[in-house]
Amino acid sequence: MKALILSGGKGTRLRPLTYTGAKQLVPVANKPILWYGIEGIVAAGITDIGIIISPETGEEVKVKTGDGSRFGAKITYILQNEPAGLAHAVKIARPFLGDSPFIMYLGDNLIQNQLDPFLEIFNKQKLDALILLRPVPNPSAFGVAKVDENGRVLQLVEKPKVPPSNLALVGIYFFAPSIHEAIDQIQPSPRGELEITDAIQQLINQKKHVEACNLEGWWLDTGKKDDLLSANQIILDSIVASTELKVDATSQIIGRVQVGEGTEIINSKVRGPVVIGENCRIENSFIGPYSSIADRVTMIDADIEHSVILQGAKIVGIHQRIVDSVIGQRAQITNAPPRPKALRFMIGDDSQIELV
Ligand code: DAU
Repeated sequence: MKALILSGGKGTRLRPLTYTGAKQLVPVANKPILWYGIEGIVAAGITDIGIIISPETGEEVKVKTGDGSRFGAKITYILQNEPAGLAHAVKIARPFLGDSPFIMYLGDNLIQNQLDPFLEIFNKQKLDALILLRPVPNPSAFGVAKVDENGRVLQLVEKPKVPPSNLALVGIYFFAPSIHEAIDQIQPSPRGELEITDAIQQLINQKKHVEACNLEGWWLDTGKKDDLLSANQIILDSIVASTELKVDATSQIIGRVQVGEGTEIINSKVRGPVVIGENCRIENSFIGPYSSIADRVTMIDADIEHSVILQGAKIVGIHQRIVDSVIGQRAQITNAPPRPKALRFMIGDDSQIELV
């Protein structure tokens, strides 16, 4: 069994955060989303992993993630020159996949469940494809499945205007090598992509063995700001506190808080669950529950809650509480007057905001 993780694409939905970076590297609780997928795959016993990368962000994914040794895996990077669709990604990964069955994992998906039980069903029943489904309130934003009363998959459609059900396709699929012939038989969709939903539909039409399982635990498609904040909240709920925290006598740490090497916390209050990266400076500040602060962040006279702050950002002199915000790498927010009651942001990499 191999695994293919899709970490290419354009990432337009998290703009401006992903103008410069890969959306799969955006951190959740200070760890790139992509890494949760890799860890889940390795935990299921699969260590031969291919990762699809794009020309724009591939180098960053490679440098950050490495050859897989940190996960106990072997990673092969596969360049996809343009985001021509999920099935196109499988097509170009054919030399890596060979005749092996594989898990296909979308690099921006995050699930609570372990993969083992699904893998067992896939192997035991010798399926051509196993898909995971989940009821959602907005099926038009996803691939959607129509199933009969016995749970058999009848039809799959990608982002339909009139959805045949509320069952969305989760971005984790299990495939036998027969998927390659199905992909060879499909044409690009009206939006110009070779769709994996069309390839699975092809298998269904040919009476191949396609089954669906319902995903019971939480699932997040982290492509949007609110999803990213929810993912951050869910993961932070399960963190454990660092054993030794170095803070000065006027600071207070309450609840589960992790703090990286070289970070200074001076005259501040941190109320967990919170993760703070390495080499940060937190001074005269409050960091409230469900916040993730990446490496090298400076916070002076600032007050933040339920937010994600990326590497190198600087927040200075903002006395109003910053809530439900995602602040990009190296962004700077400085000097606010004490008038507004709350501030809500989605600020991209390299932004600078001065409130005067
Ligand atoms: O998250 C679940 C949904 O994922 C499914 O319900 C849909 O059926 C499926 O098409 C997909 O929809 P998205 O709109 O979320 O796909 P997105 O374009 O965001 O791509 C998903 C991942 O695959 C993302 O990490 C980027 C990567 N990708 C995407 C394309 C189109 C590639 O590596 N290459 C590509 O050509």
